[in-house]
Amino acid sequence: MKQMNDGIIPFYSSSEKVIVRSKDCYQYDSEGKKYIDFESGVWCTNIGHCNDRIAKVVAKQAVESVHHGYRFRNRYAEELSAELQRLIGFRQGSSVFLSSGSEAVNMAITLSRHLTGRTKILKIDNSFLSSYGFGRISKDNGSLMTIAFNNLNDIAHIDYTEIAALVLEVGGASVEMVQFPGSEFITQLTAQAKKNKCVIVAEEVTTGIGRLGKWFGFQQYNITPDIVVTGKALGNGFPVSAVTVSSDIAESFNRTPFGYAQSHQNDPFGCAIGLEVIKIIEEEELIARADTVGRYFKEQLEQVWNKHTDKVKEVRACGLMLALELKESFDGKQLSDSLFEKGNVIGFKLNTLRFMPPLTIKTSDIDKMVAQLDDLLTD
Ligand SMILES: Cc1ncc(COP(=O)(O)O)c(C=O)c1O
Repeated sequence: MKQMNDGIIPFYSSSEKVIVRSKDCYQYDSEGKKYIDFESGVWCTNIGHCNDRIAKVVAKQAVESVHHGYRFRNRYAEELSAELQRLIGFRQGSSVFLSSGSEAVNMAITLSRHLTGRTKILKIDNSFLSSYGFGRISKDNGSLMTIAFNNLNDIAHIDYTEIAALVLEVGGASVEMVQFPGSEFITQLTAQAKKNKCVIVAEEVTTGIGRLGKWFGFQQYNITPDIVVTGKALGNGFPVSAVTVSSDIAESFNRTPFGYAQSHQNDPFGCAIGLEVIKIIEEEELIARADTVGRYFKEQLEQVWNKHTDKVKEVRACGLMLALELKESFDGKQLSDSLFEKGNVIGFKLNTLRFMPPLTIKTSDIDKMVAQLDDLLTD
């Protein structure tokens, strides 16, 4: 890990390697070493790093229009809103485009409070929600209420009367390292929240844009959200996020207008990128690919699990969000560091390895990394 002061506040620990180039599923350091990126940056580059078509949009947009201010509209934001609504299944809804996932989650919470006049937010245990603000998971954030993960008994015992929104994260990448709530739990919880007039927010910052083998994670369940929050992969590495609301909510702004001022709102630059990302995913059939390659990846990890049951506790997966949890008795830190030294960027926390590569990941790269993992567990 880096020791020197390189002028960057050390909010997270990085290695000393300097990245000079990224392409598709690979990153290259200043010494020419190639890494397979099983993390997609921070789960952002679903169509691969530095995609050529996105580079063209960036170049075109950089000279055409980047940002224009409140006096104007732009066709990219309007088209991207229509595209997101089509993929979500909304008609006559509307969107706002911001910069980061945290901003969009905070906006969804703010809107839910405005719409309901209530203040509390219900989340499932192990959710991330936001790095700051109303969605930040911290002891001093008194507005957050938590329901235990997959606990059907608790659903009936919650006081919903003060809850503005149920914010659903249907696949946690970071907190408990890749957990997927059961369908009965999500269906019952959503039904109860809806009955009590809470806004249903699908928090798709990480699970959206194809990661789980569907456009959005909520589409694995038989539920209809009122608001969908996207970020990360929407810009494939460029910071753009979206809050997309149903027609009922869109209409309600005519009755109870809501004002919000922030410099980077509906910028054409990010929206043009988001539109191209969606086009590429559809044309290259990357949603179906996330499902089939995800299943293949899971099978390979399960074979490792079957072979090393003394060291591996479990494999969890949905689409291209996968984890291999190691037994407590086995220290996985050395294993994850060795995989990095061999050129694999892999998440590691709570003795669990996490894999969330671009949806373009080649099965030969999966095979290569899994063989190295197998060897390291055999040693
Ligand atoms: C599920 C989820 N929601 C929200 C966020 C925050 O997004 P951002 O880092 O773009 O603010 C993250 C970030 O990792 C996340 O995983």
